[in-house]
Amino acid sequence: MRPTVNTPATAGPDAAAATGATPAATPTASRPELPDRPRTTGRRTGWHRLAVVGVQHLTGDAVAVTLEVPEALRDVFTHRPGEHVVLRHRRAGAELRRSYSVCPPPADPAALRLVIRRGAPDGFGAHAVTSLSPGDILELSPPTGTFALPGRSGGHHVLIAGGSGITPLAAMAAAALREDPACRVSLIHSVPTAADALLADELSHLKDSFVDRFTVLYVLTQEEHGSGLSGGRIDDAKLPRLLTAVDAHPGPGTAFALCGPAGMVVAVRRALTAWGADPTRIRSELFTPADTPPRSAPPRQTAASRRTRVTALLGGHRCLATAGPEDASILDALLRTHPDVPHACREGVCGSCRARVLSGRVTAGPQYALHAEELAAGYTLVCRARPLGTELTLDFDA
Ligand code: FES
Repeated sequence: MRPTVNTPATAGPDAAAATGATPAATPTASRPELPDRPRTTGRRTGWHRLAVVGVQHLTGDAVAVTLEVPEALRDVFTHRPGEHVVLRHRRAGAELRRSYSVCPPPADPAALRLVIRRGAPDGFGAHAVTSLSPGDILELSPPTGTFALPGRSGGHHVLIAGGSGITPLAAMAAAALREDPACRVSLIHSVPTAADALLADELSHLKDSFVDRFTVLYVLTQEEHGSGLSGGRIDDAKLPRLLTAVDAHPGPGTAFALCGPAGMVVAVRRALTAWGADPTRIRSELFTPADTPPRSAPPRQTAASRRTRVTALLGGHRCLATAGPEDASILDALLRTHPDVPHACREGVCGSCRARVLSGRVTAGPQYALHAEELAAGYTLVCRARPLGTELTLDFDA
């Protein structure tokens, strides 16, 4: 999910979501259920202070940080491949929030490990790469997210990563190979140079363990390899050749998962669809730029002079707020009285602020983190959404 400067923030672009769709609220019972997606029975909330127990330098600008989860928090920090945590870091009086995919080593799938890249010089990534050490304490929210491989047995999972986008996909690959002996996994990783290939050693060992069912291809964007597959960018011409190389075929037996910078993910999704892939079998997640402030606000409504009473269900509690024209988003209104409302990027990318509209209506700018099925089911990202009407009920636990 920006191979050099970005830290991972889990999110999923979807062609429909990226167009700035405006989900109109309808009664929940009439909405379609989400296919092939993990169900949540209630969002785990709150902040927890966890000790760093390991810092492994992967490349010159990336570290793998392992955290200790005390027995009392085992359930809170249970995670599955594709989920992310939000990390809260205070620095010079300001609060930074970053989301990172949980990326356990294949040999220890229960471990809470994050891969963190250096970002802006004064950001958390730079602090992690240069200063973080065992014994330090980090503040994390529980794992969350909907990025996942289909749960069906068998079939071929084709995973395509750009840069740091490898972190959720490596975890997904290891879990699929371990848990589903009937499946095959092919991983295509696009990086500037071989030295930038995060987790290459672990993936090589994984290949040794599942030699007949796991394939890894690297595409080096800054190294020339003539007309070969391993150099240049993944574009419309190269992608079909890569898919042939991993023996992938369009059809219901092949599922795709993409993670990387927005440009790459959108281009690969488009190329996959042109190749013949079923769009409903393509899952994706974006990375946000690291350590940069939000770049744009959701569109303000010209008729938004009225105030809206917002009821939010969060962690089993009912939170009330009033949103007015001064609020760029519903999130802003909620944070005035409920600072623990989940959020991180504030750009519609990480998915941390996902909630389902139970009643009322919202309008939103681009919601990269939502898939078409989620939009159809009434989900919105409150950092991108503004209310329409005088009453709105949201469910963060849905
Ligand atoms: S999508 Fe990241 S905070 Fe809303």
